[in-house]
Amino acid sequence: MTDETVPAPQNVRFEHHQPGALGIGAARPRVSWTLPHAPAGYRQAGYELRGVITAADGTPEEFGEQVEGDAQVLVPWPARPLGSREAVLVQVRVRSAGGGWSAWSDPTSVEVGLLGPQEWEAALVGPDDSGVAPSDRRPPLLRGEFTVPDGVRAARLYVTAHGLFEAEINGTRVGDDALAPGWTSYRHRLRYLTYDVTDHLRPGANVLGAWLADGWYRGHLGFDGGEWDIFGDDVGMLAQLEVVTAAGRSVVLRSDGSWRTAPGPLLSAQLYEGEVHDARLEEPGWSAPGFDATGWQAVRVTDLDLSLLAAPDGPPVRCTQELSPLSVSEPEPGRYLVDFGQNHAGRLRIRADGPAGTRVTLRHAEILQDGELCTVPLRAATSTDVLVLDGAGEREWEPRFTLHGYRYAEISGLPAGSPPEVVSRVHHSDMARRGHFSCSDPDVERLHENVVWSMRSNFVDVPTDCPQRDERLGWTGDIQVFAPSAAFLYDVGGVLSEWLHSVAAEQAHYGTVPWYVPYIPGPGWDPTVPGAVWGDAAVLVPWVLYERTGDAELLRRQYPSARAWVDQVLGIARSEGRDLLWDTGFQLGDWLDPTAPPEDPTRAMTDPSLVATAYLAHSARRLARTAEVLGEDDDARRYAELAAEVARAFADAYLGEHAPAGARTQTSYSLALTFDLCPDEETRDRIGDSLAALVRASGGTIHTGFAGTPAVTDALSGSGHLDEAYLLLLAKECPSWLYAVTMGATTTWERWDSMLPDGSVNPGDMTSFNHYALGAVADWMHRVVAGLAPDAPAYRRIRFAPRPGPGITAAAASHETPYGTASIGWTLDDGVLAVRAVVPPGAEAVLDLPGLRRELGHGTHVVEHRLREDASTP
Ligand code: BGC
Repeated sequence: MTDETVPAPQNVRFEHHQPGALGIGAARPRVSWTLPHAPAGYRQAGYELRGVITAADGTPEEFGEQVEGDAQVLVPWPARPLGSREAVLVQVRVRSAGGGWSAWSDPTSVEVGLLGPQEWEAALVGPDDSGVAPSDRRPPLLRGEFTVPDGVRAARLYVTAHGLFEAEINGTRVGDDALAPGWTSYRHRLRYLTYDVTDHLRPGANVLGAWLADGWYRGHLGFDGGEWDIFGDDVGMLAQLEVVTAAGRSVVLRSDGSWRTAPGPLLSAQLYEGEVHDARLEEPGWSAPGFDATGWQAVRVTDLDLSLLAAPDGPPVRCTQELSPLSVSEPEPGRYLVDFGQNHAGRLRIRADGPAGTRVTLRHAEILQDGELCTVPLRAATSTDVLVLDGAGEREWEPRFTLHGYRYAEISGLPAGSPPEVVSRVHHSDMARRGHFSCSDPDVERLHENVVWSMRSNFVDVPTDCPQRDERLGWTGDIQVFAPSAAFLYDVGGVLSEWLHSVAAEQAHYGTVPWYVPYIPGPGWDPTVPGAVWGDAAVLVPWVLYERTGDAELLRRQYPSARAWVDQVLGIARSEGRDLLWDTGFQLGDWLDPTAPPEDPTRAMTDPSLVATAYLAHSARRLARTAEVLGEDDDARRYAELAAEVARAFADAYLGEHAPAGARTQTSYSLALTFDLCPDEETRDRIGDSLAALVRASGGTIHTGFAGTPAVTDALSGSGHLDEAYLLLLAKECPSWLYAVTMGATTTWERWDSMLPDGSVNPGDMTSFNHYALGAVADWMHRVVAGLAPDAPAYRRIRFAPRPGPGITAAAASHETPYGTASIGWTLDDGVLAVRAVVPPGAEAVLDLPGLRRELGHGTHVVEHRLREDASTP
């Protein structure tokens, strides 16, 4: 029986992958779908998945399964586990409570990669440059010849590298991604990529050519001078090319000792320093058949542990946007200053022409000082690309193996009087956009836009701190505080799932969660020393992903890591004489609170032990919730009790009437409130009042660092002090969120005053204009200003709870939830709050306005509600 009123499901997808994805790593990929609309009262009573598994030799196998119930997000794989190279087509239909079936969805496909070391027949090959000083090594080219039979129906290239690679077949680029294979903790995991190269091949002789560079694997990396060869010195490529013909599957290319290598036209290529390309050294036709490679050297074959190879969970880095110059000036003949109007991570693409040997130099910076590039914030990351022309005519050029963080560029070496043709190509992990926000205050909208740009600039395969200076590391604390905002704005499930593999692996290796992951040597950053706020990422990031996407399997996978973190810290807090306070060892605490001096960002107002202990209570409680979701009931009980004990210890030490000065700060009160550490209502009220009084006394300027910033607005709005929350949000004096906006910021800054009120750059040697951590307020803007929050995992139940406050008369947010688009928009006019909320089919919602609460089914809801005079308190 069909039910005409229920539409066919749409957006049928496999976890973390776009429809049509190749080379996924899951043998049992979970499936999700949405319904574009549904009749009032519709509830899914069951679903059916059907499909065809096609083995690599083309043999089809049908499957199908009907399941009772209303699950439509990450439902279990309905058939036998998929094998390597198998492709699958899936369709879904749903049954409503009345018993009728919808039409079938369009089919969605996905193809599995190589699921195990036994599938690989290739070896890792590269140049033998072990005798050369790292800074003198030239990025090599590699070349492998192979023969392709007639009648190729499909061809796949499975490939990875030590270092970075770009592949070409017969002179044509493979793929459009950048910085492949990305950055993992290479000792534990090395991702390979899968490309469809059917159209690259021709019957007979073919050539695979590869550009290689040091990248994260052996490049110059890290602060205070950095180090080379951190993961090894053997750059190389592992490539296996397989074709399917009528005769079946065959491996036509495996990288091996027959490959040849030679230095290419790149003189150097480093992530921090940039790239030098000498076009005079190019050898035409090097990656096509017929090229004479006799002058090239034999490759070195490295033994690679093939069990490290894994398919990516997340999308690759690629160019997602091109920015044209906002203005170009010529301060001196032939030296051009370009303003792209937006700070971002990317690289330039220019057109250039000139006599052979002309050096075109591209320099990058986030800001100008006295009308010139200010490169002080870059520290040792010189961020300079050079193209040496070959005199053979105009060419278009973009560096391959580097990335810079900048708004401005200086281009020199081109003729005077003719501004260069240039665009900036924005690069980051190519995640799907999920969330949007707008409101009646243009400065707040710009703040939000800045948060989005800092997120884009810093999701470069791993979630990093900054895109410009000699760091760009996966600092755990930064993403810990920013994860809720990130998960609203973009589909971060893949990138963060991938990064969490590395977190767990490094934690197991070092015995604690390192300050940044992947870990590289950094003076002063001992990876065996635990630090609160940062290490808590092991518990809190998986939880945020679960809350936003409903992925309980990810929680399960990360559970040993989360538990090991809490166990370790509880062990410290219970060790001799500690009374459950984490008051020992090195802490970053409320890093970068605005009172800390430029040269010592840990010298915050708030006691670092207070921050550490608050986080211990919070993480233990989250771990208890995690255990509950996973059915680990004993753990759930135990960690809940331990969390309560730590909370009591916290209250005794820090919440008394005569608490020490380091416990009477915006951050301490905010953590106590948002982590629910107050023993009773009375204390809660007192702490809330104290926080509000501090904010009023500071005229709305902010006094929190990395730890307090994500909490302070929630602490105020959740304790009846909405006016003060808006006072903070809308303040423009330094330090405040809008201060940076008034100074022309286009991204969020690392410090509240990265640029001082007089327009000069903060003298601290750690001054970035593109860090996302202090942008963590975006999450509050989404949940409380606009009013869109998850109330059950994956937004199966949505909480629309806008809290209009002084200074904002309208706001809106939308989010592509796993169930479809949810949105809210409100205006406040003459005391009447007009709300329009949209709930996707399959989800439900609660509308929670001051003085009104209503349950909402799916569909569009319009509500007008007169607020009481004193309605600014929830
Ligand atoms: C990074 C941070 C990081 C911090 C830890 C900085 O250099 O840029 O964002 O969390 O160090 O101390």
